[in-house]
Amino acid sequence: MLTLGVNIDHVATIRQARRTVEPDPVAAAVLAELGGANGITAHLREDRRHIQDRDIRLLRETVRTHLNLEMAATEEMVAIALDIQPDYVTLVPEKREEVTTEGGLDIVRSLEKLRNVVDRVQSANIPVSLFIDADEAQIKASADTQAKFIELHTGKYADAPNADIRQKELDTLKIGCEQAIDLGLRVNAGHGLTYINVYPVACLPGMEELNIGHTIVSRAVLVGMERAVREMKLAMRGEL
Ligand code: PXP
Repeated sequence: MLTLGVNIDHVATIRQARRTVEPDPVAAAVLAELGGANGITAHLREDRRHIQDRDIRLLRETVRTHLNLEMAATEEMVAIALDIQPDYVTLVPEKREEVTTEGGLDIVRSLEKLRNVVDRVQSANIPVSLFIDADEAQIKASADTQAKFIELHTGKYADAPNADIRQKELDTLKIGCEQAIDLGLRVNAGHGLTYINVYPVACLPGMEELNIGHTIVSRAVLVGMERAVREMKLAMRGEL
């Protein structure tokens, strides 16, 4: 069954705009679960621009589905993951100036470092997912790290300027998904998915979980989190 991980970072973005206590991403996670979220994802960035350490600690106590901690492969974050014990960790590249995660990890170039981080986190029984582009060499290198999962970057698909390029990017995701599964990896995907473009990605054979944030929080501002998540589950089934 394809599952939905709801990324609640941008609930925290609104809170941090005033550095106050509302809206609380922990409350948003409860409502997302009531709407049918299968998991909650939060990205603890080095600059703490949205999610705070307190959020991760509380989410660990309150999330009833599973908690996916998105983080950079740094010593600080590895220590936090080992302490908090999320249900899985997704490693992402992080640049201070970026508005959002821009590209996938370069596993080929950082193989030894990432292999070491994956080993330390997975030795604590926390499966690791590597956020990568659907590129043959990156998928092969991901399998070499022994990570349990990859998350395919759907940004190029989402940003495609026309239907032909979108189809080409979808084909690339499909091939990447097949290659990863052949290598024994489990496959998630995310970034830039919306109510409009999600369904073809949801149909990719073998896809396990979609991590979706911005579009759900955007809709939630207007219609409420529970309904926004319920409607995304419909969109993933082509029923919206
Ligand atoms: N997956 C990863 C690895 C991400 O970094 C993000 C953005 O934080 C998402 C999924 C969700 O992307 P979006 O907010 O565009 O749905």
